[in-house]
Amino acid sequence: MLPKKSSMLYNILFLILCGGIFVFLWSAPAETTKRMPYNDIHKKFYTMQKSTADKQCSTCHNPEGVVPLPKKHPAKYRCLFCHKKVK
Ligand code: HEC
Ligand code: HEC
Repeated sequence: MLPKKSSMLYNILFLILCGGIFVFLWSAPAETTKRMPYNDIHKKFYTMQKSTADKQCSTCHNPEGVVPLPKKHPAKYRCLFCHKKVK
């Protein structure tokens, strides 16, 4: 067992850590990722199950497609996880 004094110290360190994480998350920048447009092309994906819809995006959004993803695009699976529906 730890002596009482040092377990108090760990408690304080833990609280400071929590505070730090809280401030970090609080100050994260607003979401800026483009939403999936609501138009004739994308309308059908709004009613589809997300995991089903995700698989069809790349028929158009691929390097040779109509709207290729930007070169620096992040991880490519689960499109709708990042590109949310417009409200
Ligand atoms: C039939 C082809 C096609 C499919 C399938 C498709 N898209 Fe698109 N997408 C387009 C075209 C064309 C545009 C650009 C014109 C527009 O806004 O509709 C576009 C634009 C976008 C944009 C916005 C880009 C911008 O500059 O604002 C996002 C985000 C997007 N698509 C996400 C998706 C996601 C997520 C899926 C799968 C659920 C998907 N698309 C499936 C053709 C397609
Ligand atoms: C991890 C999050 C993430 C995932 C998953 C993701 N994207 Fe993106 N996407 C981004 C970011 C960030 C950008 C660039 C910034 C922006 O869109 O404003 C971007 C950009 C795009 C653009 C270009 C928008 C424009 O006009 O600049 C298209 C089209 C697109 N993504 C489609 C897709 C498709 C299709 C998928 C699935 C195959 C997908 N994304 C998965 C985060 C994501």
